[in-house]
Amino acid sequence: MKALVLSGGTGTRLRPFTYSMPKQLIPIAGKPVLRHVLENIRECGVTDIGIVVDARDRHIAAAFGDGADLGVRLGYLRQEQPLGLAHCVALAREFLGAEDFVLYLGDTVLPEGIGTLAAEFAARRPAAQLVVQKVPDPRRFGVAELDADGAVVRLTEKPDRPRSDLALVGVYFFTAEVHRAVAATGPGPRGEREITDAVQRLVTEGAEVRAAEYGGYWRDTGRVEDVLACNRRLLEGVRTAVAGTVDAASRLTGPVVVEAGARVIRSRIEGPALVGAGSVVEDSRIGPYTSLGRDCVLRRAGLADSIALDGVTVDRVGGVHGSLIGRAARIGPGDGRHRLLVGDDTRVEVAA
Ligand code: TTP
Repeated sequence: MKALVLSGGTGTRLRPFTYSMPKQLIPIAGKPVLRHVLENIRECGVTDIGIVVDARDRHIAAAFGDGADLGVRLGYLRQEQPLGLAHCVALAREFLGAEDFVLYLGDTVLPEGIGTLAAEFAARRPAAQLVVQKVPDPRRFGVAELDADGAVVRLTEKPDRPRSDLALVGVYFFTAEVHRAVAATGPGPRGEREITDAVQRLVTEGAEVRAAEYGGYWRDTGRVEDVLACNRRLLEGVRTAVAGTVDAASRLTGPVVVEAGARVIRSRIEGPALVGAGSVVEDSRIGPYTSLGRDCVLRRAGLADSIALDGVTVDRVGGVHGSLIGRAARIGPGDGRHRLLVGDDTRVEVAA
């Protein structure tokens, strides 16, 4: 079996971050979302992985290279325009050949992994096996309707009036039978070639399409709220590990990771929290549910329920919470008034 991971797209909902980086590289509990995805794929024994990336993106290939660090073989497929998930499968036709494959959205986090689902697919080999989960409001997802036997009878993309509560979580298993259906699928009303339309075609033609329910935590990290929620959840799984230095005047409670070269001075860190390599935390309060990237500097700062990417500085500002702070951003006091140098589509909420 091969894997096809989709890491292109526009990431409109995650602006301004996606102006300068693909959303799949946003760190969750210290690791890019895409790394969580690739590790899940590797754990079910699949090592031949194609990644669809935006044709202009250089960050993903720079981060993962040929995959040797992860023990997998990565190839990159460049998509000129985000023309839809079925377009991605068509683009990968040659890479996929006649093999079965798992199609995995690169912004999807499933901490429990996909091993059981992959085994279920391998045992039965239907033309398609869609991974689904019951959700309270399925309107922003693809929705699957099943018959009593678990076979998929209809699929609808983001329906106004959903006919079932089973949302597609963004992982699909296919045999090569899907390629014919994909080739026959043109753009839908959203202008994209939808994978749900291709799978619907399989259903209509009488091919076997199954659904497999994933019972664990699942989040698509398409919005800031999802990124922070996912960070909270994954940080819950960390164990205390201090490779950097923590002085005697600091106090750590709960699970806290202090990576190599990081320094914690006269500070209080309430876990779960993570301080990235080379960061300095001085006279500050951090956490819970906070992760700092590499080389951040926090001085007399307070940060909770937040993610700071690499190189962030927070100086003499307390009470920061629920925040996602982009690379090398600087937050600090000015001349007593507010002064904002913020990028396009930035959101600032002040304690006014
Ligand atoms: P989405 O999150 O549905 O789309 P998007 O990335 O364009 O985000 P937004 O709605 O905020 O603009 O895409 C799901 C995943 O599939 C995501 O990892 C991006 C990827 N993708 C591609 O690689 N190519 C595509 O043509 C599309 C539509 C998505």
